[in-house]
Amino acid sequence: MADAARRHLPRAIFDFIEGGAGSEIAVARNRARFEEIALLPRALRDCSAASAEVTIFGRRYGAPFGVAPMGFADLVRPGTDRALARAARKQDIPYVLSTAATTSIETIQDIAGENFWFQLYPGADEAIAAALMARALEAGVTTLVVTVDIPVPARRVRDLVNGLAIPLRPSLRTVLDVGRHPAWLLRACLGQRPGMANFIENKGSMSGLAHAEFVSRQLSCPGLDWNRIERIRTAWPHHLVIKGILNPQDAVTAAKIGANGIVVSNHGGRQLDSAPAPIEVLPAIREACGDRLTILLDSGVRTGDDVARSLASGADFVLLGRPFLYAVAAMGLSRGPAAIIDILRAELLNTLIHLGCSAPGELGRDFLWPQRGAGR
Ligand SMILES: Cc1cc2nc3c(=O)[nH]c(=O)nc-3n(C[C@H](O)[C@H](O)[C@H](O)COP(=O)(O)O)c2cc1C
Repeated sequence: MADAARRHLPRAIFDFIEGGAGSEIAVARNRARFEEIALLPRALRDCSAASAEVTIFGRRYGAPFGVAPMGFADLVRPGTDRALARAARKQDIPYVLSTAATTSIETIQDIAGENFWFQLYPGADEAIAAALMARALEAGVTTLVVTVDIPVPARRVRDLVNGLAIPLRPSLRTVLDVGRHPAWLLRACLGQRPGMANFIENKGSMSGLAHAEFVSRQLSCPGLDWNRIERIRTAWPHHLVIKGILNPQDAVTAAKIGANGIVVSNHGGRQLDSAPAPIEVLPAIREACGDRLTILLDSGVRTGDDVARSLASGADFVLLGRPFLYAVAAMGLSRGPAAIIDILRAELLNTLIHLGCSAPGELGRDFLWPQRGAGR
């Protein structure tokens, strides 16, 4: 799917999606660690009633995976956020809207309905974060995902080379390459110009670029600490999930302050290039916090087998990012999101039955080969 997406997108846009921090070692590691995991099947167990459904945060979903929050997704095609939200609702998986999305909370509310989760970058300005939380609450969001792994903006070399960073200075090569993708260019010209939809009320008389710079300053914050997360915990009345945890001690702290869940994530290798792959630290995190937290995982999940590998290693649920954008780029707004969800669910169900499991919740460390000791 990534190769097909590459053909449909200007190089700078594809690089923005696919690229990672630094030398992209974390991106490669995320995949390599998945591929090392073998699952040990059980034979002769009746799986004639197997289902991919799971319950998480008090609600039943059609599959144990959802759409990870992704800012600027509409760069792929105008309408990408809406198409993903629509498919997520139809096929009953969560859709997580990013703070940095180019589609507003209120727009997604109508489309995603009960499948709508919101991701918050707490940023430096508590008043701005509080206003976003109030809007999410008003929109009926019951699961708030607070991302904590961008203390400073990442250094993504591809974006720097392409000039697709803030301040925006596209290189000549980038501009010429866009001209070689007339279909993308036409859609971009005809569609709504992507803007920082969730920060419109802070725009005032700022130019589009100044506004993007303002928002970019609001997304990362080196001063963020657990006190701030505790204040968010106090203010948010529903499920709270902390995204970007890799250290078992932080997972334990998250449980202590009353978070309901964490996303074990290295942001898809887009922030700290020397970070471990979430799938390799997951067993230690499950071991450290037992059943006190709902554990989600993302970064490098590409197939139904990877979903099963994650659940066997201790996760309750997974999120995927890039594959959803590749599907939109390669197959379009109406076919892409539905197709990727169908494929992942079919792969997972097939794998579950091969393993002798009738439900995702039956997966645990007994299915890992070689036996790892940790996990559930
Ligand atoms: C284009 C793009 C934009 C992203 N924007 C955000 C964001 O705004 N907030 C956030 O918490 N994570 C963001 N992420 C990270 C994803 O939520 C997720 O952690 C990551 O994509 C998972 O890895 P995967 O792409 O290998 O599945 C972004 C990822 C991509 C690819």
